[in-house]
Amino acid sequence: MPKISVGRDQEDREEHGLKGTGVIGKHLVGEKEEAHKANTIHFDLARPHVMGVFGKRGTGKSYSMGTIAEELQNADISDNLSTIIIDPMGIYWSMKRPNERSITVLEEWDLKPENFDAKVYIPEGKTDEFEQKEMPYDDTFTLKPGELSAQEWIMAFNIDISSERGILLERVISRLSKEYGSDYRIDHIIEGIRKLEFSEDVQEGLINRFNAAKDWGVFSDESSIEKFTTRGELSIVDVSVFGEISSGWSVRSLIVALLAKRILRERMKARRIEEIDEMQNIAENEMPITWMLIDEAHEFLPAEGKTPASDPLLRWVKIGREPGVSLVLATQQPAKLHPNALSQCDIVLSHRLTAKQDIDALGEIMQTYMRHDLRHYIDALPDKPGTGLILDDNSERIYPIQMRPRKSWHAGGTPDAFD
Ligand SMILES: Nc1ncnc2c1ncn2[C@@H]1O[C@H](COP(=O)(O)OP(=O)(O)OP(=O)(O)O)[C@@H](O)[C@H]1O
Ligand SMILES: [Mg+2]
Repeated sequence: MPKISVGRDQEDREEHGLKGTGVIGKHLVGEKEEAHKANTIHFDLARPHVMGVFGKRGTGKSYSMGTIAEELQNADISDNLSTIIIDPMGIYWSMKRPNERSITVLEEWDLKPENFDAKVYIPEGKTDEFEQKEMPYDDTFTLKPGELSAQEWIMAFNIDISSERGILLERVISRLSKEYGSDYRIDHIIEGIRKLEFSEDVQEGLINRFNAAKDWGVFSDESSIEKFTTRGELSIVDVSVFGEISSGWSVRSLIVALLAKRILRERMKARRIEEIDEMQNIAENEMPITWMLIDEAHEFLPAEGKTPASDPLLRWVKIGREPGVSLVLATQQPAKLHPNALSQCDIVLSHRLTAKQDIDALGEIMQTYMRHDLRHYIDALPDKPGTGLILDDNSERIYPIQMRPRKSWHAGGTPDAFD
C-alpha cells in the first residue's frame, strides 16, 4: 500500500519521500460506526498550498488547525518555515500547554502531550486589558497608519467611497503620502482633515472615526509585524480584544491586510534572491516559507462584500505559489467564503457539513468525477469529533479521515454547565 501524503505531487514523493510532511490523522475505512482507522495520512508542509477547513459548529475546525500548526512546528524542515495563526477568538494561546487531559487517547496514537513554543502577540495598546483579565501574552505588535491606503481606511470605516467623507479621506491620504511618504500619524490625518475645505459636519464625522481608531491600540510610528515571520517560529496573533467593539472585524481585517501585503512583498523579494542562490547551488532560503492560518476566515474574505483583507488575501490565493506563501482558511460555511478562494483550494479538510448550500459549495470545488460521490462519503462518516473528509487535488482523491488528537491543549472546547 503506497503511503498517503496529501498535497504532495508525484515528483516530490519520488525525490523526498515523506521528508517535509506531517502526520495529521488516519485514513478511515468502512462506514459509519463500523469505520476503522487504517493508514497514516501525511500532509505536505514543504510546498505552498491553499487549504480550506470546513465543518459545522463544534466539529473540529479550530482543533484541526492547531494540529496543522503543531506539525509545521515539529517538521524536519521547520527551520525553513514560519507559521502565523490569526486568532479572532483568543483560543490558541493554550498551545503553550501540553494536552495532559488526553493522555490516554494520545497513547493510542503513540503520541505524548507536548507544549509548543508559541509566541502570542497582542496589540500594543491592549496590554492593560490582557493583564486585568489575566490573559497571557508574550509580546505586542503595532501598525503604521501610513501603510494603509485611503481605500483600506474607507473599507475599515465602512463609508461610501463616493460620499463626501470618502472623497475627503482620499484627498487627505493622498496629500499626506505625497508630503511624508508613509511617515505620518493619525494626528496628522486629523490635522489634514481640518485643513481641507469640507463642511464641518463631514470633517467631524471623519475625525470621530480616526479618534476611535486611535483607541484600537494598534497604531504607532513603526510597524512591528516583521517578527511574525521569524524562522521556525509559531506566532499567534491574538485579535480577540476587538470582539467588544462594533467595528471589530474591520480592525482585524486591517491587521490581516497589512500582514498579508507585507509578507507577500517580502517573499517575492526573497524568492528572487533564492532563485539566484539556487543557480549558484546555495541551499538555504532567504526568508522562511510562510503559512498563515486564519480561523473564522469568512469574516476576512467573505463571499459577499469586501474587507480590507479581501484583496491582499485573494492575491495570496492567486499568485502565492510562486513566492511561496500558504494559506489555511477555516470556516463553518464554505458558501460564505469568497468563491475565488474556494475554487483555488488544493486541499480541503471538511468536517461534518449538513446545509445543502455548503455541501454544494464543496461540490463546486471538486473535480466532476468526485462530485457525485460526495454525499455518500459525507453520509458514511462516523459521528465523532475530528472525523472528516480530505479532498486532495494532487492525487485527485477523497480520503475519509480521523484527525489525530492534539499534542497541545485546545482551549476552544465546548463548555458545559454540569459541574
Ligand atoms: N481530532 C479530534 N480528536 C478529538 N477530539 C476532537 C478532535 N477534533 C475536535 N475535537 C473535539 O471537538 C471540540 C470542538 O472542536 P473545535 O473547537 O475545533 O470546533 P470548531 O469546528 O472550531 O467549532 P466552531 O465553529 O464553534 O468554532 C474540541 O474541543 C474537541 O473536544
Ligand atoms: Mg472554531
